Amino acid sequence: MKTYLVTGGAGFIGSNFIHYMFEKYDKDIRIINVDALTYAGNLENLKEVSSRDNYTFVKADICDKDAISKIFEENDIDHVVHFAAESHVDRSIRNPEVFVQTNVLGTAVMLNCAKASWELEGGGFKEGKKFLHVSTDEVYGSLPEDGGYFYETSPYEPHSPYSASKASSDMLVKAYMDTYKFPANITNCSNNYGPYQFPEKLIPLIINNALNGKKLPVYGDGKNVRDWLYVRDHAKAIDMVIQKGRLFETYNVGGHNEKQNIEIVNIILETLQEMLPDSDPRKANVTKDLITYVEDRKGHDRRYAIAPDKIKAEVGWEPETMFKEGIRLTIKWYFEHEDWMKNVTSGDYQNYYRTMYEAS
Ligand code: NAD
Ligand code: TYD
Repeated sequence: MKTYLVTGGAGFIGSNFIHYMFEKYDKDIRIINVDALTYAGNLENLKEVSSRDNYTFVKADICDKDAISKIFEENDIDHVVHFAAESHVDRSIRNPEVFVQTNVLGTAVMLNCAKASWELEGGGFKEGKKFLHVSTDEVYGSLPEDGGYFYETSPYEPHSPYSASKASSDMLVKAYMDTYKFPANITNCSNNYGPYQFPEKLIPLIINNALNGKKLPVYGDGKNVRDWLYVRDHAKAIDMVIQKGRLFETYNVGGHNEKQNIEIVNIILETLQEMLPDSDPRKANVTKDLITYVEDRKGHDRRYAIAPDKIKAEVGWEPETMFKEGIRLTIKWYFEHEDWMKNVTSGDYQNYYRTMYEAS
């Protein structure tokens, strides 16, 4: 039985990954989830798995060396799946330091503890161990509007404090692979959407605002392009890279699904119109009149697009969920989890929202 140490498993992608893994492997794996439960971490995301014998939650900060090395001392970890990070670009523009702390120093702690636990006395590492570092396509910078893709060989050109901190963490992983032959892979994925995403990110924010008749803030001219991937497809890609990815390699993961932000907003409005019954009083609110163009994000990357050719050729992974289907599944999930949304948007979220969008 393989033991997975998942960091940041109470967040959006981490919790989807844990659900995916238990649905696929059931009792044949063990998962230890270590999460500091920042504003983005929510144990409600994991309530269906919390009573499993083969699941353990540890509340700890990945920057806390003692706490992390204790987990490695007490458990024979086979795979680390490292999601824990500060993940929101807008927050990184307002407060970069915590991004360096968690994303760079926290990754260094995770790498050091895994290395110490996995290395053999005579050199090399124990068989079958792997550290999967979950990263983003934003490390590659911005593409021109009229073409081009991010490849694994594309130069790193991060622009935001978030992407700079993720690029730094990738570089650390690469340095461990080059220097120590540390067994790792890096995955650089495009924008995810789906259940359990915190409503500071575009898609859940627009769904939530539209349902509440609130303005839909679109940055700049709304024509920035992102390559959207359904989160379950990402979870599957990570599992496949752990199983089949060649050690020391980087794999780009993307949705073949480029869309301008304004297109995303319009698709959400149209889908909400289709899905809400006529008897639902919220239906009348859901109109294009809510769209409000606001001041552009500082240093806003124009376009991201992934070429997932390598992961397809070597690992056999491809995106499966078409956007039309994925957005319906996502909206359905938010319809069915109104309490989840109420809980996460109470308290600190209100302060964040006021500071971020007070002018709109
Ligand atoms: P998220 O913000 O939803 O979740 C992050 C999780 O990490 C939370 O549970 C939080 O409590 C935890 N965390 C934060 N700081 C911590 C610390 N110091 N110690 C322990 N836990 C801590 O993020 P997400 O969207 O699920 O992203 C997960 C990973 O995937 C990140 O590394 C991100 O860079 C990467 N990624 C995200 C996307 C995307 O579209 N969301 C795309 C590509 C890559
Ligand atoms: P976001 O979901 O924050 O992801 P990222 O910045 O990591 O790509 O934003 C996706 C796109 O949507 C990005 O171009 C910024 C834009 N955006 C808005 O136009 N309005 C918003 O309120 C938010 C949160 C994002």
